[in-house]
Formats: sequence, structure tokens, C-alpha cells
Amino acid sequence: MAEKIIIDTDPGQDDALAILLALASPELEVLGITAAAGNVPLALTSKNIRKICELAGRPDMAVHAGCSQPMSGALVTAEYVHGETGMDGAELPEPTMPLQALHGVDFIIETLRREPAGTVTLCTLGPLTNLGKALTRAPEIAGRIRRIVLMGGGLFEGGNITPAAEFNIYVDPQAATLVFGCGAPIVMMPLDVTHKVLTTRARIAAIRALGSQVGHVAAGWLEYFERFDEAKYGTDGGPLHDPNVIAYLLKPELYGGRHCNVEIETESELTKGMTVADWWGVSGRPKNAFFVRDVDADGFFSLLTERLSRLGRNDAAEQPKLRLV
Ligand code: RIB
Ligand code: CA
Repeated sequence: MAEKIIIDTDPGQDDALAILLALASPELEVLGITAAAGNVPLALTSKNIRKICELAGRPDMAVHAGCSQPMSGALVTAEYVHGETGMDGAELPEPTMPLQALHGVDFIIETLRREPAGTVTLCTLGPLTNLGKALTRAPEIAGRIRRIVLMGGGLFEGGNITPAAEFNIYVDPQAATLVFGCGAPIVMMPLDVTHKVLTTRARIAAIRALGSQVGHVAAGWLEYFERFDEAKYGTDGGPLHDPNVIAYLLKPELYGGRHCNVEIETESELTKGMTVADWWGVSGRPKNAFFVRDVDADGFFSLLTERLSRLGRNDAAEQPKLRLV
């Protein structure tokens, strides 16, 4: 029985690889994809999701636009990392598939109310505004969520947008507080694990060597996406964050961590958005999240590359005409 999932995302090249991985994996049934505002504004993330779905040969996918602003404060975006389109590195044609009329927050609520309790997993790859809003409007859905697997936060690695905060949490710490406090089982993929998953030259070459349009586009995205972090961290390749959320569903044995308490700083200007993870259990606070710290990076890239090879096997005529930049 495939695991039913909703993907909430702000593409974002790494989000794109996560969505492709999910759509290539029969173990998962993607009920729908909701657009979050984050890496780039909502209008672009809503478009990017549909470009990714068409690239994967899934123009049938239900894509819903979510909230355009965080629950409080102004939206912070990251074009300096992802480029003006949010997916620089490969140019895909304008999507022709529709955006659903139903708002992303309503889609999350209605899906969780409709599906049997405990059968739907939320995979969040961006700021948590949509899920935070859904929990505010319909608190009872928390008890109906099978699990939340989210990319966000950091502890030993610190932050990436401030010394203390990771981007997804920083953009909407109020929403993150609601999510981490909702009581649903949470698996957290923080920078501590994603910084061990680097898009090295060899790994990108293996993806390009697939020879498919998906392989070429994915390699183009990664070559663009990694340049910022390579310069920042001085590494061969940059951290590939979001696909770890999907890979965890497919092969949890690739990952290691521990349950601990995670709280979100919302007040301090200096540390706003920090995930205060009680790794050593000194606070006595409830252990509300499984904090993932270790990963078999080679195993992750083998899984990702093999699953990408399954996409784009259909006739080239069905694939959008691409211009790689
Ligand atoms: O900090 C990394 C996260 O922020 C990733 O999800 C990336 O796509 C951006 O949303
Ligand atoms: Ca993201």
C-alpha cells in the first residue's frame, strides 16, 4: 500500500529534485502539491511546481497555491541562492497544466478530513506557513496526520540565513512553533544532516549521464544551485536539502538520529527562527521530534539517481522542449 503524501514546497532547485524523486517512486501516492512562498514569491513557486510536474510527465497532478506571506512579518526570499526564477540552471517552458482553484491551506485541511485518520503524511520542504495556517483554522487535523517529515532547522551546524537560523524556519517561526507544538509525529531533516549530502562533481556527473531530459535538467539545476554554497563552505558540491525528506520515506535506514525536544525562538532579533533542539535531554521538555543527524550519503545519491532514471523514459515527444542555460 503506497504511503499517501502531500508535498508543501517552495521550488527551489532542491525542492524540484525532491518532487521528481517522489513522482518517480511507486511507494508514494502524491495526493497533491501545495505551493509555499519562500525561495521565491508564491506566483513563481506555483509556476515552478507545475513545470516540474510536466517535466516528470505528470500534468495531471493537483497543484494548489498556498499563502503568499508568512503568518507574521514580511516574506524573506532567496533569489541570491536560487536565481530570479527560483530554478535557474535549466529553462523549462511555461506550464500548460492548471493551478487548482482550491487554496493550498484548504486542500491540506479537506484532504486530512477526508482521508482515514493516520494515513496521510505531510512532507514540507519550505517555510511552514501553509501547515501553520491549516492547524490554526482546523486544530483537529493534527490528530489525523500520520507524520510530518520536514526539512528545516539546525543545531550543531548553526544556521544558514543567520548564524542561528535555517531559512525555512526563519521565514515563518510562528508557523514553525505551531507545527512543532501540534502533537503529530515529526521527523526533522535539519542542516546537520543535509550538510552531509553534497552534490559533488561525480554525483552530478552520474545524474547527467542518465542521458534523459530529466537527467540534463536536474544536473543543470544542481550545478547552478551549488555554486553559492560551494563558495560559502569551500566544499566540492553544496548541500542537497529537500530530497532527504522523500528519501527518508523510501529508505529510512539511510538515516540516524534521536527523539528530542525542539522549540522555536520567535522573540529575539538575534536568534529568531532558531530551532533549540535538546539533543542531550537536559530540559525535561517533551520529545516532540525525531532529529536526524546522520545519513549514508552514497546510499542517498544511489537512490536519487536510480529513481531519476525512471523518469522521462516515456516518448521524448511527451517531454517539454528544453533549453539548457
Ligand atoms: O535552508 C534550506 C531550505 O531553504 C531548503 O528547503 C531550500 O529549498 C530553502 O527552501
Ligand atoms: Ca525548499
